[in-house]
Amino acid sequence: MTIAIDPNTTTPTAKPFLKWAGGKRQLLDRIDQFLPTALKQGEIERYIEPFVGSGAVFFHIAAHYSVKEFAIADVNCELVLTYKSLQKDVESIVSQLLAMKSKYLSLDEQGRKDYFFEVRSQFNRKRRSIDFSQYSTTWSDRAAEILFLNRTCFNGLFRVNSKGEFNVPPGRYKNPKICDPDNLRAVSQLLQRTTIYCGDFSECETWVDDRTFVYFDPPYRPLNPTSNFTAYSRQAFGDREQLQLRDFFRKLDRTGAKLMLSNSDPKNEDPDDNFFDTAYQGYRIERVKANRNINSKGHKRSAIDEILIVND
Ligand SMILES: C[S@@+](CC[C@H](N)C(=O)[O-])C[C@H]1O[C@@H](n2cnc3c(N)ncnc32)[C@H](O)[C@@H]1O
Repeated sequence: MTIAIDPNTTTPTAKPFLKWAGGKRQLLDRIDQFLPTALKQGEIERYIEPFVGSGAVFFHIAAHYSVKEFAIADVNCELVLTYKSLQKDVESIVSQLLAMKSKYLSLDEQGRKDYFFEVRSQFNRKRRSIDFSQYSTTWSDRAAEILFLNRTCFNGLFRVNSKGEFNVPPGRYKNPKICDPDNLRAVSQLLQRTTIYCGDFSECETWVDDRTFVYFDPPYRPLNPTSNFTAYSRQAFGDREQLQLRDFFRKLDRTGAKLMLSNSDPKNEDPDDNFFDTAYQGYRIERVKANRNINSKGHKRSAIDEILIVND
């Protein structure tokens, strides 16, 4: 890994604080290998990640490269609420989570289940009264609930039903890491120089120029009809959206920005499926190995190819 560290502009300790389907933690080494030369030479001023999820690449870049400012976004407003609350009121989240943690850990198995369901129903009940467009101090209560549910639910999934309700069952963990105060504070510090918004990937266009690096990690194109994990939110992301994103990628390319996009390789299932090779013709397409586990039953884990597309 080539690393250009500037102690004034890096936050080395901030790490992802959520478990998130499609998280890129295990691919960081490979992604790092294909990051733009301009980033490695300190010539990038702004990093944008419009499908941020748990932000594995965002935190990696903040820890290892010198970038002045960041913009992160996601269409999932609960996720964005969590980032914004950490930016504005980390201490309130830490104290609420520590209280939830000590309560949870003091209970037996049935007690933990009951407590999980209590927090989950409270979280779903309060959804109607939350204004996701306007930050308020009550957001930190919700952010603490999201962090708690994410750490104690089955598989660490964030899944909502058609009514937008969080519906993942409880997990069975002996000692889940419900709160890491040092990390949450480091995250909050990094978020002080980060613009955060909830919306479609295309909304980042206004910030992109030739000193920008944008990393796109959209929902995976399903490898087969039964593996279509796209339920991060209620919005679907099918081939039509993948191609809209391709058009957006080509548009941003013309600004001189550095770009990278990752997705599943359809050739894992069908060697004749050239969806991305055709869509991104003319760009560098790399195939890298990943251990992927997004099947909710958790038994389909194997090394498969992912693709990385870059314009560098
Ligand atoms: C593969 S995940 C990103 C994972 C992330 N790289 C990580 O390390 O956790 C894709 C993300 O895209 C978000 N998303 C789906 N449709 C979107 C859209 N139209 N615009 C922006 N974000 C979207 C989902 O909510 C999800 O968090």
